[in-house]
Amino acid sequence: MITHRYPFFLMTLAALSMLVACSAKDKRHKKTNSNADYRTASMHGSGLRNADIALPNSLSGVAGVSHSRGRTTMPYIAMTYDDGPHPQNTPRLLDMLRQRNIRATFYVIGRSVNMYPHIVRRIVAEGHEIGNHTWTHRNLTTLSDASVRQEMNSTRDAIIAACGVKPRTMRPPYGALRQSQRAWIYKEYAYPTILWNVDPQDWKRPGVSVVASRIINHTRNGSIVLAHDLHKPTVDAMPATLDGLLRRGFKFVTVSQLLALNPPVNMVQAPTSPLPPSSPPMMPIAVSVVR
Ligand code: NI
Repeated sequence: MITHRYPFFLMTLAALSMLVACSAKDKRHKKTNSNADYRTASMHGSGLRNADIALPNSLSGVAGVSHSRGRTTMPYIAMTYDDGPHPQNTPRLLDMLRQRNIRATFYVIGRSVNMYPHIVRRIVAEGHEIGNHTWTHRNLTTLSDASVRQEMNSTRDAIIAACGVKPRTMRPPYGALRQSQRAWIYKEYAYPTILWNVDPQDWKRPGVSVVASRIINHTRNGSIVLAHDLHKPTVDAMPATLDGLLRRGFKFVTVSQLLALNPPVNMVQAPTSPLPPSSPPMMPIAVSVVR
């Protein structure tokens, strides 16, 4: 009935819809960095997407001085990418992570942050975590405390200037940091030192399939995986790596989220049955787990 009585109204409505659609299209075209497909399923099917995970990421009360893995027994893992941001490889990696709804942690070099602050802003805007990986990427065990402080401060300040977010953790270049240095950095900056327990040696460029299989085969619940978004072959290996890990049921979180899953002291219960002899002793908090 209405269609007969109000043809003009309907025509107006159709014209208006077209107008709205066109202006939306224009807006999309004007965007340099479309987020339109942020929540869509990956091309491999919705089953492979990382779940939306809402975990606390405050480190208070759970952080120890250094970690090479989380202590959760659930299938949570943290991918970490070092030595960026890189002008081509990092945005390409961010696209791959976004397609799979995966959050990761980027240990960035201060002087690269200064060169590519827009990439750091994108990292943070897309829900990833930023960590301090020093300014010059030198072996910190060879530096004075004053020099280490300078490395930490300048990188922290560059990150804050780029994206307004303060790093919560640090990773020493080459994993090299004396126990005494870890302790004072934790005291002074509240940065736990973050190492890893899965290292595909991707910087040696062993080949895309080798990087992927090393990571997939060695990752366990609570793993912290080391990789480098500085290197193109590493980023080339990520689609197979990430899809392989998703297929195995792993859920991706950031380093802070992973550490927040560590049981706080007052929540650790005595085991109800004796542990088998091969099990490690139960620790109240994850401290100084060094590979
Ligand atoms: Ni590094």
